[in-house]
Amino acid sequence: MWWGDPATADGEPPWFDGLAESTVGCTTTSHEWPLSFPRMMEAILDLHHFPFVHAAFARGAGPRLDPYRAVLDGDVIHVEGRLRTESGTGPSQDFRTRVRFPAVMLSETKVPVIVLGAPIDERRVWLHLRFYPRPGVSPLAGRIYSWSLKWAEEILIFPADKRVLLSTEPALSGEDANVLVHADGAIALWYKLAARAFDAAQGAGASAETGAGAEPGARASAGSSA
Ligand SMILES: [Fe+2]
Repeated sequence: MWWGDPATADGEPPWFDGLAESTVGCTTTSHEWPLSFPRMMEAILDLHHFPFVHAAFARGAGPRLDPYRAVLDGDVIHVEGRLRTESGTGPSQDFRTRVRFPAVMLSETKVPVIVLGAPIDERRVWLHLRFYPRPGVSPLAGRIYSWSLKWAEEILIFPADKRVLLSTEPALSGEDANVLVHADGAIALWYKLAARAFDAAQGAGASAETGAGAEPGARASAGSSA
């Protein structure tokens, strides 16, 4: 999906190597949300909100995110974490996701789930989700499984996310709009990649116009560049 000038669209959409080519048994859904693109990416990369925003469905996911690890490998952010109780005893929930910059997220917690995002304008984003079937079951059972995940996401999860995200200030986010903590390591890495992409775009634009590179320090907020 490309919302910009068709003449400037090049290359293949970002994707993950090794992900099943077949979409048999998958269920997809697309949505348009009144959110800024950086805010949507913050939400996608925020593992820690789950036991607070989705408490009714956070079976086994405690409020303490520990251990937590977010690392960069090229343009891919790898995130792993465990939501556990304060004491470390009792149930816990492990999470593992990857985000290929700018906005292809692969969750590998139970079955693969792909979340794609694209900015429509400054205050609207397009979301596309693909739920994969549980492996080792019949095509029909797989389809029912992936459909049930989609249903749960849209009916039970999205409304709670929207209540928080659409009331968060400032509505237009950016790297200067947040006070990031340890659990936001993946968000910090995303802004790092956004800043890098913005600098590259600025440099390419300046080179095209003047034949020279961009002025040092010309980078604006990465939040408006994603
Ligand atoms: Fe959520």
